[in-house]
Amino acid sequence: MQTHLRGRDVIDFSEWTKDEIDTALDVAFELKRDRALGRPHPYLRDKVLAMLFFFASTRTRASFEAGMAQLGGHAQFLESRVTQISHGDTATEIGEILGRYNDGIAIRYVDWQKGNAYIRDVAAASRVPVLNMQCDVFHPHQALADLMTIIERFGDPRGRTATISWATASSYQKPISVPQSLALLLPRFGVNVRLVHPPEFLLMPDIVEQARENARRGHASFELMDDFEEGLRGTDVVYAKSWGALLTTTDPEEGERLIGKYSSWITDAEHMRLAGEDAIYMHPLPADRNVEVADEVIDGPQSAVFDQAENRLHAQKAVMALTMR
Ligand code: CP
Repeated sequence: MQTHLRGRDVIDFSEWTKDEIDTALDVAFELKRDRALGRPHPYLRDKVLAMLFFFASTRTRASFEAGMAQLGGHAQFLESRVTQISHGDTATEIGEILGRYNDGIAIRYVDWQKGNAYIRDVAAASRVPVLNMQCDVFHPHQALADLMTIIERFGDPRGRTATISWATASSYQKPISVPQSLALLLPRFGVNVRLVHPPEFLLMPDIVEQARENARRGHASFELMDDFEEGLRGTDVVYAKSWGALLTTTDPEEGERLIGKYSSWITDAEHMRLAGEDAIYMHPLPADRNVEVADEVIDGPQSAVFDQAENRLHAQKAVMALTMR
């Protein structure tokens, strides 16, 4: 167990050792047990987390805010459009100033080729930990909660297979941050990863290379595939969600056209049968129902989506309690 995490940022868990992530998972399970038993755990009494959003959220905002209250502190909600950011507040000023008011700064900024750079600039100027609530490249707290969910469902995750697959969608070109953080994190814990997508829906090459190296070090396999059905066959975890063709085109109309080419990439009962009856279905939500995933799957017995959403709370509380003390 690593106890020296005070002051650490979470931009992505690639910057934490496996021992450090194990500590966060241990604490997350303990906090989940405490909450089930009604045992108070005010580790962050009088502490304040600034939450700065440049993009919509249901789960991330609600779970960080509830988590801070349960830890005895307060979460300050800031929406970028009602700040002075558009009138000139720079990332450095945000880091300096919010860091002087607060004990942590959490940011969601998913704009392609902007979000990660912004969060890193804020972190460079901040005297308190900066937590990434999702950027264009990473969604670390989602990946941590997902790993927690896999451990709950299967016990030791080593040797299990997770299919991280693209799926079709109609709402918008979703960020690539969820599959990237998952592809990086899961193989470090010995999970065999199949990354499945049509050719236009690439992830960042350096992330894929790092994921492959993480698999080698984690004694796991890492396969790139482009056949949805082959990717699902015999897997333990079907993590099928949409993401945009951002490395192929930044034109939304062209992105939409490319998504339309693969409308058969929907997780329905027939596709789940390829995985098997013991497989689980995962999705970070929100999902495009009956486009990305059929109701019969997301509402069915193999679905783990509500446990995933719940585990955001426990995983983030663990990170906050360890870093913001
Ligand atoms: N999964 C997730 O991050 O949900 P929100 O976009 O609602 O925060």
